[in-house]
Amino acid sequence: MKILVIGSGGREHALAWKLAQSPRVGKVYVAPGNGGTATGERMQNLPITDIAQLADFCVAEDIHLTVVGPEAPLAAGVVDHFRARKLRIWGPTQGAAQLESSKAYAKAFMQRHGIPTAAHRTFDVAFEAHAYIDVRGAPLVVKADGLAAGKGVVVAQTVAEAHAAVRDMLEQNTYGVQHGVEGARVVIEDFLEGEEASFIVLVAGNHVVPLASSQDHKRLRDGDEGPNTGGMGAYSPAPVVTPEVHARVMREIILPTVHGMAAEGHPYTGFLYAGLMVNAQGQARTLEFNCRLGDPETQPILMRLKSDLVGVLDAALDGKLDSVELHWDRRTALAVVMAAPGYPELLRLGGEITGVPRPEDDLHVFHAGTRLDDGVLRTSGGRVLAVAALGDSVRIAQARAYSGVRQIQFEGMQFRQDIGWRAIKR
Ligand code: AMP
Ligand code: GLY
Repeated sequence: MKILVIGSGGREHALAWKLAQSPRVGKVYVAPGNGGTATGERMQNLPITDIAQLADFCVAEDIHLTVVGPEAPLAAGVVDHFRARKLRIWGPTQGAAQLESSKAYAKAFMQRHGIPTAAHRTFDVAFEAHAYIDVRGAPLVVKADGLAAGKGVVVAQTVAEAHAAVRDMLEQNTYGVQHGVEGARVVIEDFLEGEEASFIVLVAGNHVVPLASSQDHKRLRDGDEGPNTGGMGAYSPAPVVTPEVHARVMREIILPTVHGMAAEGHPYTGFLYAGLMVNAQGQARTLEFNCRLGDPETQPILMRLKSDLVGVLDAALDGKLDSVELHWDRRTALAVVMAAPGYPELLRLGGEITGVPRPEDDLHVFHAGTRLDDGVLRTSGGRVLAVAALGDSVRIAQARAYSGVRQIQFEGMQFRQDIGWRAIKR
């Protein structure tokens, strides 16, 4: 059986690695893939990104199942296109993917369905946004409405910072956000206190199966300082998601979302990711929805998943997700991202990468921004590698992951030294 994974990041390398372990799978194509998926066992890169051409490939090669990694093809309607051509694909439709592609849509949806989230207002006229900031006062969070690769969010501690963010996003589009057809909009919301967690579930119609919890580290530098990034490291499980928090999130956030999407004519299929802020009382509020797996959360989550992912996705697509029970390695998995010099702003790419350790049972290096250039591995994107390890505790998984990091060299590499610190501090 042949599988196609769409995407080129660390999440897609981890998906391909996990799917390739299924006893029924002969080959996993990754389109367009990276330097890791180029040489992975039973993996092959496919230099296609056009949706119609990918569908043609699936017909010609009799691909059993396509799994979509990133949000961009989902927002562009890859699932609608594949379904119209009777091809099997795992992911939400364009309509359902609005939960991620438009923050304004997601906020209005949460409001309609009573899903806990920060109070907010949406603006497309700058002076109204500025006036709201003056009335509301800091701290505030200003978010560009559109896909921004994790960079279109400014947590403003002062009113001046909030005004500057509105100027950047609404008046100048400094972040190069892909705005919707209506043009630039910003969402301004109240700042929430607490600890973040990533809560990702499998959804097919009205059935939901949660994946293991995880926590990402979005800031560039140790101690959660510096600019927001796509994610500098992650681990699973996240201790902040206690059994009580878990039950509450399912009841107050996930199930109302899944049922609400179906009721509004956008029945959801695929991975659904709720980014949560959990306060000291164990109340969870939704910071954002993503219509895909997290990156780098996927790398530790899939290291812990014991079940056959192909069997799970097949059952879900056949309407049998309610019969699925996932089995997890009880150990903690932790992944450290190694980023290119200049990330997350102006990248300096092309440097040679050496020393990547061979995979072992408890250690795996997932590639993201890498390419193979005449047999030489080089950096080709902001987040270059994620070194993921399993251990009996967060500390042990952390030590093992950093033992892998220390073997790797490339010029100007950046990585955090403290991935997992909140779990260790608990
Ligand atoms: P988002 O892309 O909406 O998840 O926002 C990116 C990051 O900004 C989150 O991971 C949080 O660290 C922070 N953030 C977003 N919204 C809020 C909020 N309402 N209160 C506090 N922090 C927030
Ligand atoms: N790591 C955060 C995300 O994938 O959105």
